Amino acid sequence: MVKKNNKKVIIEVINLKKDYKVGSVITKVLKGINMKIYEGEFVGIMGPSGSGKSTTLHQLALLDTPTEGKILVEGVDITKLSEIEKSNFRLYYFGYVFQEYRNIPELTALENVFLPLRMQGKPKKFYINEAKKLLEYVGLGNRLYHKPSELSGGQQQRVAIARALIHKPKILFADEPTASLDTGASKEILKLLKKYNEEYNQTIIMVTHETSHIKYFDRVVKIKDGLVEKKWVLLNELF
Ligand SMILES: Nc1ncnc2c1ncn2[C@@H]1O[C@H](COP(=O)(O)OP(=O)(O)OP(=O)(O)O)[C@@H](O)[C@H]1O
Ligand SMILES: [Mg+2]
Repeated sequence: MVKKNNKKVIIEVINLKKDYKVGSVITKVLKGINMKIYEGEFVGIMGPSGSGKSTTLHQLALLDTPTEGKILVEGVDITKLSEIEKSNFRLYYFGYVFQEYRNIPELTALENVFLPLRMQGKPKKFYINEAKKLLEYVGLGNRLYHKPSELSGGQQQRVAIARALIHKPKILFADEPTASLDTGASKEILKLLKKYNEEYNQTIIMVTHETSHIKYFDRVVKIKDGLVEKKWVLLNELF
């Protein structure tokens, strides 16, 4: 289960805390998360509903600001970056996949996928070629000019995954990317992520509830009540 741990640490999370204030009530959601993620790992984040999985992912992915603690990405504490540096990090170093596919409805699959490279100011010929290659890779070479409404749920999520990977992010963050899909489509998405992880040494951090996904992960980090319950979990210890 535990492999690739002889490699470089890509993320180190130190005493991560997050409080949310709703009205006058403060809720302590993350209570001191500590973990390391190694380059090229496919890590599953699991645990009960409301335990803080999405909150953890959002802090790591620069989609929220922690109350306390450090998040070192290749040694850089990303919580200390300026707003401009944070948006550059999001644009160049991170990729995101969510339960809702978040494709732009008016754009074709091809246009949705090349968008991040276009935003980076890359040449047109380059971003069109890259997007075509990646859509081919995810099995949508024959759907380049379809709009999201003309694709199945699984195909829409493939477009979203291609868009999240087009700029070759250091880390891909995924929060329950298959929760809207049936079992068959869900399995295909996991197989695709695993293949990409293995072929390109892509680091992937993915939140899921599905025990059937565990076999695709190198490691599971189990979160319970805002803390890492176990860092190195064996399959039969999980549930
Ligand atoms: N923006 C927010 N404001 C206030 N409370 C929040 C906010 N986001 C999350 N919470 C609270 O933090 C707790 C953890 O939420 P989180 O979304 O991280 O859980 P989760 O483990 O991802 O659960 P699920 O499996 O249901 O997605 C919940 O009790 C939730 O009410
Ligand atoms: Mg969640």
